[in-house]
Amino acid sequence: MQPSEPAGPPRGTASAGPRRTAPAPQPIAAVVRTFRWSDHPATVGLWERTGRDAVPERELRAALEHGPELMVVADRADTGLVGAVLGTFDGRRGWIQRLAVLPEHRRGGVASALVGELEQRLAARGAPRVNLLVLPDNPEGLRFWQRRGYLPCPDVLCTKPLT
Ligand SMILES: CC(C)(COP(=O)(O)OP(=O)(O)OC[C@H]1O[C@@H](n2cnc3c(N)ncnc32)[C@H](O)[C@@H]1OP(=O)(O)O)[C@@H](O)C(=O)NCCC(=O)NCCS
Repeated sequence: MQPSEPAGPPRGTASAGPRRTAPAPQPIAAVVRTFRWSDHPATVGLWERTGRDAVPERELRAALEHGPELMVVADRADTGLVGAVLGTFDGRRGWIQRLAVLPEHRRGGVASALVGELEQRLAARGAPRVNLLVLPDNPEGLRFWQRRGYLPCPDVLCTKPLT
């Protein structure tokens, strides 16, 4: 973190002595990187805090066996994990699941950075398109995806549970 600056004079008050030009504090950028198993507890906590079902560990291990680079996290040096997303590739389409950013880190481009990175990784695997599911009662999720250029597909059908 940047060292905190001493408080300046109240607005509208002249300050005596030479003028100090303090460097503007820089926001700490999140590093977008591949998930490591040591991130698992933090990732589960992040999904829980953001109201997303955690991917069961068995399913996550199976997904990562096929695409270990397709789970991407956003990591900050000061706070740790602030966002995560899981991608899968079925050989034809890419799928994006469980995108989540901690509430106090939203609207700073974290989800855009995560999804941008994952889209590139899916494209490198040969996925020409990406699909995902958004529940209709999630307007902020819908706005995010629409802003990224994702369009609703009315022709998707879902099965009843198979088991
Ligand atoms: C949806 C979510 C992932 C967005 O994360 P984020 O890091 O805040 O997103 P970004 O900062 O990259 O947003 C990019 C753009 O998406 C749009 N957007 C994102 N959140 C929005 C919101 N709450 N309302 C309206 N537009 C929104 C904006 O256009 C935004 O750009 P701007 O901030 O310059 O206006 C986050 O709100 C979240 O984790 N929600 C809970 C879990 C969830 O719904 N996941 C997606 C399910 S499919």
